[in-house]
Amino acid sequence: MLSAYVTAADPEQPLAALRIGERPEPDAPDDWAVVEVEAAALNRHDLWSLAGVGLPPERMPMILGTDASGTVDGRPVIVHAVITSPGWSRDVTLDPKKSLLSELHQGTMAQFVAVPRGNLIERPSWLSAEQAACLPTAWLTAYRMLTHDSGLSPGDTVLIQGASGGVASAATVLASALGFRVWVTGRSEAKLSAALDRGAAAAFESGARLPERVDAVIETVGEATWAHSLRCLRPGGTIVCSGATSGPNPPAELNRVFFQQLRVIGSTMGTIDEFRALLDLMERSGVRPTIDRVLDLPDAAEGFRAMAEGTLDGKIVIRV
Ligand SMILES: NC(=O)c1ccc[n+]([C@@H]2O[C@H](COP(=O)([O-])OP(=O)(O)OC[C@H]3O[C@@H](n4cnc5c(N)ncnc54)[C@H](OP(=O)(O)O)[C@@H]3O)[C@@H](O)[C@H]2O)c1
Repeated sequence: MLSAYVTAADPEQPLAALRIGERPEPDAPDDWAVVEVEAAALNRHDLWSLAGVGLPPERMPMILGTDASGTVDGRPVIVHAVITSPGWSRDVTLDPKKSLLSELHQGTMAQFVAVPRGNLIERPSWLSAEQAACLPTAWLTAYRMLTHDSGLSPGDTVLIQGASGGVASAATVLASALGFRVWVTGRSEAKLSAALDRGAAAAFESGARLPERVDAVIETVGEATWAHSLRCLRPGGTIVCSGATSGPNPPAELNRVFFQQLRVIGSTMGTIDEFRALLDLMERSGVRPTIDRVLDLPDAAEGFRAMAEGTLDGKIVIRV
């Protein structure tokens, strides 16, 4: 079956490691199902995989992709991307042996993907296959950051670092739907203007001084924005961090953390119940993902390149 995959990672030139070609169709073990994929979405995770981050050589070749929508026996489904270890019954995000599709098990950028039946969610009729494919990683992560982790209440102000990214654009839309006042930073006028169009109350150049301090910051950028995130928080405020695109080791500035009594919360993906709550919020509020472009699987390299260069706004969807 046609797939986007990696056989040998390239930390220096990740894009050179991308392969588009034939891979064997999956078998479904007991309690797993084979999904016929209609759409997959691209995440920064797929670029990390091409660079070999979290994907050692012994797991290659690996089909890329954590997100998919498609059909099982003709029934439209969305795939929850977090795979737990056998017997795990608590919050899936806390399973020390959890993985995302394309880490231990073959990923979603292919004609078929095998997933545990418990990871299937019925796709509502008001959501297209392309829109649904955007949700399992970026949107679910943004939802959990804002609801489970941020401590925010309606009317509070949240700063979202990064305007155009998959998680950042989802957080902008969802935070606004949850009744928060949303401020965004971004690296170009066009990106700031797009963030305002999708619901931000104000948008600032990366690193700019804000008019007042915020109640929480949504962080996925890391080194490039971390010091600014700490400076922007009110005493007792919360940084929720789920990524470190620009680097994982910013100065910790512990003096600021304890004098200002800041809360630093790590966050990763979300549970299937949170996925259903996300869908409820989307149905009630009418919010939908910003899709930068839809590419056919043979043209997927164009999407990877745009993500690496940061020349996108929202999600890139791969139509299978
Ligand atoms: N823990 C989890 O479960 C989880 C889930 C999803 C994602 N993540 C992580 O979160 C991060 C974002 O993922 P994504 O898929 O949203 O990636 P993406 O779509 O490529 O977005 C990248 C974002 O980072 C910003 N950015 C990058 N370099 C920057 C810099 N030097 N200065 C300021 N901003 C910069 C961009 O801001 P501009 O808009 O200004 O260009 C953009 O908002 C990745 O590190 C990913 O691995 C983690």
